[in-house]
Amino acid sequence: MRIVMTGATAGFGLFAAERLVAAGADLVIGARSPSALPSSLAGRVAAHPLDLDALANVRAFADALGEAPIDVLVLNAGLQLARPARSADGFERTFAVNHLAHYLLLRLLAGRLAQGGRIVLTGSGTHDPAEKTPVTPPVHANADWLAHPERDPTAEKGTRQACFRAYSSSKLANIMTAREAARRLPGVDVLAYDPGYVPHTGLGRDNGRIIAALVSLILPRLMKADRTSTIPRSGQFLADLATDGRFAGARGSYWSVRGPALVEVAPSQLARDDEACARLWDDSARLVGLDP
Ligand SMILES: NC(=O)c1ccc[n+]([C@@H]2O[C@H](COP(=O)([O-])OP(=O)(O)OC[C@H]3O[C@@H](n4cnc5c(N)ncnc54)[C@H](OP(=O)(O)O)[C@@H]3O)[C@@H](O)[C@H]2O)c1
Repeated sequence: MRIVMTGATAGFGLFAAERLVAAGADLVIGARSPSALPSSLAGRVAAHPLDLDALANVRAFADALGEAPIDVLVLNAGLQLARPARSADGFERTFAVNHLAHYLLLRLLAGRLAQGGRIVLTGSGTHDPAEKTPVTPPVHANADWLAHPERDPTAEKGTRQACFRAYSSSKLANIMTAREAARRLPGVDVLAYDPGYVPHTGLGRDNGRIIAALVSLILPRLMKADRTSTIPRSGQFLADLATDGRFAGARGSYWSVRGPALVEVAPSQLARDDEACARLWDDSARLVGLDP
């Protein structure tokens, strides 16, 4: 089974990648530093350079993969910023890395997916205002405003809130992309994933090591008890979503870690708005230079 994956070098994605390799998958990863992989992956996976910060890198990565069929595409990489920043292409960086780069990769590779192939996108429970997480929730999924927050009349003024909202909105975009991809790509399983809150990954690294460590200790106390997970648990579930036959035929369903279980739940109201999902797809296409 040939699996192409982003976000395999750290956090629970690394755990999932280790499990996939142990199960015999032919794993191909996009990595910012392919020559400095975690020791558990070095020599066991094929790694090509991929920094999602620039759309040109995404196109080069897609070219490097060649034309061989892909069975599973796992889009798991992500970041959460402490200060506003722009991507190499001038877009708000969280939206550019977490959504636009993955959207472009999905579009470039969709035609190479084997019949009965699968796409898994990692979203987050923070996308849903009803979850009341400590992360400022999204208020819209307008791609142009998310890519250019200076045009967004609803933009948060405070730095922390703006960065949090950029993150939760990008994760909303991942989940909406899964729903729309399922509609546009018949014959391919599409799943969105919420790994729960997973402390001790590298996600908070932009805040500095001490604050990130403190957040990993404090946040579980602020979350509902069944919404905090672990690296092995969320990593194993990601590997399951990529390969387990029980998810065959999935049409954009949203799977969430709840306590020890992985359960299918409804995403937020906006994530279930088919018109908004189609609009996000079309507007994202324009932003990355593709025909809708
Ligand atoms: N931790 C949580 O509580 C939580 C909750 C909900 C959703 N998530 C989502 O889960 C996914 C994995 O997060 P994690 O917590 O495991 O974080 P992590 O430990 O920081 O892992 C993030 C992964 O994404 C890669 N990545 C980040 N920026 C990249 C870029 N510009 N180009 C290429 N790769 C890049 C990292 O590569 P490097 O090794 O090169 O840094 C790493 O492999 C993310 O999509 C995140 O949004 C996490």
